[in-house]
Amino acid sequence: MTVSSAPGKVYLFGEHAVVYGEPAIPCAIERRATVSAEARDDDRVRVTAPDLSLDGFTVEYGGDGGGRPDVNVAKGLVEAGIGYVDAAVEQARDALDRPNAGFDVTVESDIPLGAGLGSSAAVVVAGIDAATRELGHPLDAAELADRAYRAEHEVQDGQASRADTFCCAMGGAVRVEGDDCRRIETPNLPFVVGFDGGAGDTGKLVAGVRELREEYGFAAETVENIGDLVRRGEEILADADPGDDPTADLLSELGLLMDFDHGLLEALGVSSRTLDNMVWAAREAGAHGAKLTGAGGGGCIVALDATRETETALRYTAECEDVFRAELAHDGVRVEE
Ligand code: PMV
Repeated sequence: MTVSSAPGKVYLFGEHAVVYGEPAIPCAIERRATVSAEARDDDRVRVTAPDLSLDGFTVEYGGDGGGRPDVNVAKGLVEAGIGYVDAAVEQARDALDRPNAGFDVTVESDIPLGAGLGSSAAVVVAGIDAATRELGHPLDAAELADRAYRAEHEVQDGQASRADTFCCAMGGAVRVEGDDCRRIETPNLPFVVGFDGGAGDTGKLVAGVRELREEYGFAAETVENIGDLVRRGEEILADADPGDDPTADLLSELGLLMDFDHGLLEALGVSSRTLDNMVWAAREAGAHGAKLTGAGGGGCIVALDATRETETALRYTAECEDVFRAELAHDGVRVEE
């Protein structure tokens, strides 16, 4: 049996605009999805994923019963995350030219699902890594990131950038612009995450922004403005000392851009009342800046605050179900002993 894990992420800046070729800066965080894969003698796949649904369940398919899960049957499963596991297994089979490889797969995750922290990307990255290693042929990180992107792209009907999957595979902070993906250095950014207990529908939210952008010139400009603020954020990060604790000035400058980014995302219709309320609670508690992270619609916000004030304030905010500090995860995908 092989066990791999991959981190979730927050977006410092640039979600949604990244879909249209603008740059984005996601940062991996120390909340991980762990996938174990054990090769089987037959060509079936058995997935146990207690953390991918409220109830937890096991699903088995393949072999004589047919190939991949039936689309209708799979609809609920796709929503619950099994679709990502299936897509990961397909990528592993394809990469190693082993179309009939069967696996027992178990998924565990401490990343809230569909909440903007890259839960699906982490499952896909760790799944491909565990399955290919189990067959004795680990992929290098670049191929892993590329295959994970293809898997997400398939499950999300073509609506995915490379940002989440690249970040989960590589760890640290990364910069993604179209196909150009690389790691960047940052100081130790003091992220605080607030979670409203809900989730957003990434496909719907991305499609909503696409429609607005096609219909209204100012929505297209809003997307470009997000790109501009990401470029400004990059310059600020490039001047900072990597690995150090950030200065108050640096946090204020980054925080201002995060606030700006949240405003632009709200204008694009992807925020929600619960996200806005958490963002305001964080700002009023003295956070340097706060914004939604990921697709939006519900889920998580990320704030910058080195003190405990934001955490405490969010803990007492009605809309906030969970709050935690999120350390930058320096390791991307890795094998767990
Ligand atoms: O909510 P998440 O973690 O799946 O992030 C989605 C980010 C988007 O920019 C909205 C879509 C994408 O694929 O980049």
